[in-house]
Amino acid sequence: MPDSDKRPAQDYRFRVRLSERGCVAGIGDGIVWIRGLPSARMDELIGFDDGSTGLVFQLGKEMLGAILLSQRHGVTAGMSVTHIGRRLEVGVGDALLGRVVDPLGNPLDNLPPPELRESYCLEASAPPIIERDFVNEPLYTGCKIVDSLIPIGKGQRQLIIGDDGVGKSSLALDAVINQRGRNVLCVMVLIGLPRSSVAGTVEALRQADALDYTVVVVAEANALPGFRYLAPFAGCAMAEHWMRAGRDTLVVYDDLSRHAQSYRELSLLLQRPPGREAYPGDIFYLHSRLLERSTVLAPEYGGGSMTALPIIETRLGELSAYIPTNLISITDGQIYFDSKLFAAGMLPAIDIGRSVSRIGGKAQHPAIKAASARIRLDYLQFLDLELFARFGTRLDAGVEDKLRRGRLLRELLKQDRLVPLSEQEHLAWLLAYGEGLLDKSGPETAVALLPRLFEAVREAGLKLDDAKDRWMSVLQNVLAESA
Ligand SMILES: Nc1ncnc2c1ncn2[C@@H]1O[C@H](COP(=O)(O)OP(=O)(O)OP(=O)(O)O)[C@@H](O)[C@H]1O
Ligand SMILES: [Mg+2]
Repeated sequence: MPDSDKRPAQDYRFRVRLSERGCVAGIGDGIVWIRGLPSARMDELIGFDDGSTGLVFQLGKEMLGAILLSQRHGVTAGMSVTHIGRRLEVGVGDALLGRVVDPLGNPLDNLPPPELRESYCLEASAPPIIERDFVNEPLYTGCKIVDSLIPIGKGQRQLIIGDDGVGKSSLALDAVINQRGRNVLCVMVLIGLPRSSVAGTVEALRQADALDYTVVVVAEANALPGFRYLAPFAGCAMAEHWMRAGRDTLVVYDDLSRHAQSYRELSLLLQRPPGREAYPGDIFYLHSRLLERSTVLAPEYGGGSMTALPIIETRLGELSAYIPTNLISITDGQIYFDSKLFAAGMLPAIDIGRSVSRIGGKAQHPAIKAASARIRLDYLQFLDLELFARFGTRLDAGVEDKLRRGRLLRELLKQDRLVPLSEQEHLAWLLAYGEGLLDKSGPETAVALLPRLFEAVREAGLKLDDAKDRWMSVLQNVLAESA
């Protein structure tokens, strides 16, 4: 036998090796109670004897609670548990693009696991103030109302809120689809949705060619509550890795109400004391530490950004419930969907009066900002006037005029899903309406004119930075031709 093969045996020294072991005391609903493991820490990974893994989630005096992450042969009472010595991480990198994965990065699309060389901690702390920059670049969603009246900037956290079935997910999907060719990587986190909705969303992304720059993180409705709890953090970690590498990213959390419910379920199972609406006391901290990670990094720290679009579902339009108010106070503005508008056919059903973007205006392009400056106020005044005019009062010519323009604007603001507008198209309709070019035609004719305007703008190769006169002459030409 050569010398080199003998060496390991020669070097072997007998010594006492200590390894801490715990023992499973009970298991149920994806939660494992463990006795022993005195040096266990929060958010630490632990391994069971059958190869399953868990995450320490609750430290008690006698027992610790863990959430089960993977099941091999079945964890049973009495089974021995050890430290893995790591925190929970998820694989990150460009190989995730186009994939549908679970919160641990396992593929759900029947393809081999993505080849990832790096991993990122799920519970990283938010970038400190010193590393951050101001929100200064617009992020276009392609939605007329949002991009002109409730603009979003890169690095902003904008809440999408409303009752069920009013078009919240559709707006988020449009925003992702509109990032095509804009060098923004997207992460779509779907929490607690049935499999059919997940398949629908993935199919919509595929048809719009949006999967090339998107990763979908899914924790289905029938997944363990631990998975639903981890999903947004996994999506955030994937985006944060790209942000740190200097890329722009957009993360959609659909939706955080179900996330809060999963966290409540976990907390109650772990016997934490319930607070308001039976949510645990740290539910605010849960969402704030997630959303605080969205930001713009200063140029010296790479200059990447993470824009977040969390979605929250309300019941009967109740904005002042616990979770919605929490989220409204954490985010930089909200887009409020109203079920009455939805029923009236005003799609997208965004209530302009109750929606606000606190910082996006600073990032808006000056041309779009100037063109949309008065529209919000005009529209809100029109809604008031319309209410007043219903009483059959005689109105003077000025008021009639305002009403007519308001009705025209309402038709112009309507937009189908899956047809996002480019920023040039935004400016085209804003200028055409703002400068009164469409005033002579009725609402239907004006709406029918829009595609022609857009086409002319595209053919003329107009840019947002071009002089307003140039824009106006192109738009006026189209209207003169069609008259
Ligand atoms: N702009 C739009 N134009 C036409 N239809 C729309 C528009 N926006 C949404 N819809 C339709 O409204 C329905 C509900 O939309 P969506 O699923 O986005 O709502 P949601 O608020 O996310 O619902 P949920 O609470 O179930 O998640 C869908 O059938 C969708 O096709
Ligand atoms: Mg939805």
